[in-house]
Amino acid sequence: MTKGKFISLEGGEGVGKTTNLNFIRESLEARGKRVVVTREPGGTGLGERVRSLLLGDEPIVAEAELLLMFAARAQHLRELIVPALESGAWVLSDRFTDASYAYQGGGRAVDAAFIASLEEHVQRGLKPDLTLLFDAPVAVGMARAKNRGGTDRFEAEDLAFFERVRGTYLQLAGYFPKRIRILDASRPLSEVQAEIASHLLRLCDS
Ligand SMILES: Nc1ncnc2c1ncn2[C@@H]1O[C@H](COP(=O)(O)OP(=O)(O)O)[C@@H](O)[C@H]1O
Ligand SMILES: [Mg+2]
Repeated sequence: MTKGKFISLEGGEGVGKTTNLNFIRESLEARGKRVVVTREPGGTGLGERVRSLLLGDEPIVAEAELLLMFAARAQHLRELIVPALESGAWVLSDRFTDASYAYQGGGRAVDAAFIASLEEHVQRGLKPDLTLLFDAPVAVGMARAKNRGGTDRFEAEDLAFFERVRGTYLQLAGYFPKRIRILDASRPLSEVQAEIASHLLRLCDS
């Protein structure tokens, strides 16, 4: 059986990751793929419990935040992502490890070498086949996210934090131009989706 492919969606708050998950799922299903949709932090029973800790309002030091993310990720990989890919399903994840570099690395100044060592031990070389980076000016994403109502522990951060997150994501895209595709998420949804479709087509044919 051929293995499935792994796609992650990344970007700051309110850029359209969750909105586009369904579009991507439907596009892939229309091409006969079996699709598993998941998210980080989360995706497993343990992961969802870790998510509620991470998004709650209890103070968490940056290193603890990073380790909790990777604890959830280790479980996510062994319990859900790897078995799904091996069964031939395509896995779509609303955020993955790039978010650790962007939020804990860029946002909270945790040493990128620490993140890289966790990535190496937890993922053992497994990385997404394609990462769609939804990029928009911070103010655009924040205005959209506000319409959803309620703020979590991350959404309560200041503008400078989100500027660092955005900058780190763009830097990662520069390091990994083949895997990470930048989408200008400030455009109308139909234009964003037309571009997503072209990336999916390329991945389906590869
Ligand atoms: N390209 C777009 N143009 C206008 N509004 C959008 C666009 N993409 C998403 N939205 C809206 O912005 C809000 C935040 O989108 P969401 O998918 O929840 O973002 P994220 O999951 O990245 O935080 C939603 O109300 C969504 O309908
Ligand atoms: Mg979302």
